[in-house]
Amino acid sequence: MTDLNPADGILAHDLDRAHVFHSWSAQAALNPFVIAGGSGSTIWDYDGKHYLDFSSQLVNTNIGHQHPAVVNAIKAQADLLTTVAPAHGNLARGEAAKRILGLAGPRFGKVFFTNGGADANENAIRMARLTTGRDKVLSTYRSYHGNTGAAVVATGDWRRVPNEFARGHVHFFGPFSYRTEFWSDSPEQESERALRHLERVIQSEGPSSIAVILLETIPGTAGVLVPPPGYLEGVRALADRYDIVLIFDEVMCGFGRTGEWFAWQGSAVAESPVIPDLITFAKGVNSGYVPVGGVIISESIANAFEHEVFPGGLTYSGHPLAMASIVGALDAMESEGIVRNAASVGAEHIGPGLAALAEKHPMIGEVRGVGVFWALDLVDDPATRAPISTAVIGQLKKELKTRGLLPFAADNRIHVVPPCIVTPDEVAQALDIYDEAFTAVTA
Ligand SMILES: Cc1ncc(COP(=O)(O)O)c(C=O)c1O
Repeated sequence: MTDLNPADGILAHDLDRAHVFHSWSAQAALNPFVIAGGSGSTIWDYDGKHYLDFSSQLVNTNIGHQHPAVVNAIKAQADLLTTVAPAHGNLARGEAAKRILGLAGPRFGKVFFTNGGADANENAIRMARLTTGRDKVLSTYRSYHGNTGAAVVATGDWRRVPNEFARGHVHFFGPFSYRTEFWSDSPEQESERALRHLERVIQSEGPSSIAVILLETIPGTAGVLVPPPGYLEGVRALADRYDIVLIFDEVMCGFGRTGEWFAWQGSAVAESPVIPDLITFAKGVNSGYVPVGGVIISESIANAFEHEVFPGGLTYSGHPLAMASIVGALDAMESEGIVRNAASVGAEHIGPGLAALAEKHPMIGEVRGVGVFWALDLVDDPATRAPISTAVIGQLKKELKTRGLLPFAADNRIHVVPPCIVTPDEVAQALDIYDEAFTAVTA
């Protein structure tokens, strides 16, 4: 930790309030928390106070903060060549694409790199529209796909509504047993009814007009909604039946977060892997050390553009600093067993620990998740499942921060999303902090 000067923290805050315009916010009420530095699962402020980062920022620092392998890879590439136009070849880019394809498996042929997750979805949708000659995009109400033209309109949550300028988007309800839209009383029934609903939407929209079904494999921001048994298999079957391209958005759930390289590869979501046609990614691929995202393209869709022009591109597609950071991150994740760590810490420590907390605090209505990807669905009353108020969430955030934990909160939920490198000791500390914070707000 370098020398910290509390005055720098005040200056950072003042400069921010004077000059910086923030995402998704009314600006006047903002009071941003200033972070001075970080290492592993911890960050600190300019007063030297340490916090467990159980937000992973925006659920992206899968490898933790300041992993030396990634920092050094970026430094080495910066010494070599800091920028390359996308049309030119570049060693780091080829190495990054090769590694990503190796993890995705033989069905996939090429990687198109973007600047982040939204434009990954944007370009995946475009590829599907061009190859099918169809227009419509089906996605769920409980989803977030990014803040650009088609991606934000594919999004299901409130952020879509003021931004609905793209055409051809249709929404449907995915499965969510705890707050079912289908009056189901078991996960199996939820799955079956959600699939029937989706098929009715497809038939009603006209299958020959539908290019894409776009799904987060595990919807993240909407509440870590692990799909019930048979759902993804059923969606794949519908996509095949109606010749629709299936895109799995793995921007948040990919690259280790679920204890698998990709969420769709894990037994938590399907008995055997359900393979999509396109995969979108960002965040965990390099833990966000340099902005990057991309589309992993099936062999057959990639082949469609062997002799047809793909009408899309970005100045920074495959930017060498981002590519070097991907190579550094993926190699370190592999050699240090970081994805395996996420799986075992999740199964042995986070899952059981959160279940014990739910036993103790009736406010925790449901615990959902896998790996280092969990949500606590907080309720006023477990019988009615009425969501807890935003005022209580605000209080909880304050109690957690006071005790040294940086939380991730969304709607009526606290998401427990530490880096994949989190240790059992850090989980134990965090569980004590959550416990104390729930006790404090209940009092
Ligand atoms: C599932 C999912 N898709 C897409 C995005 C958008 O990614 P980005 O903010 O990098 O554009 C996000 C961001 O949180 C996400 O969670």
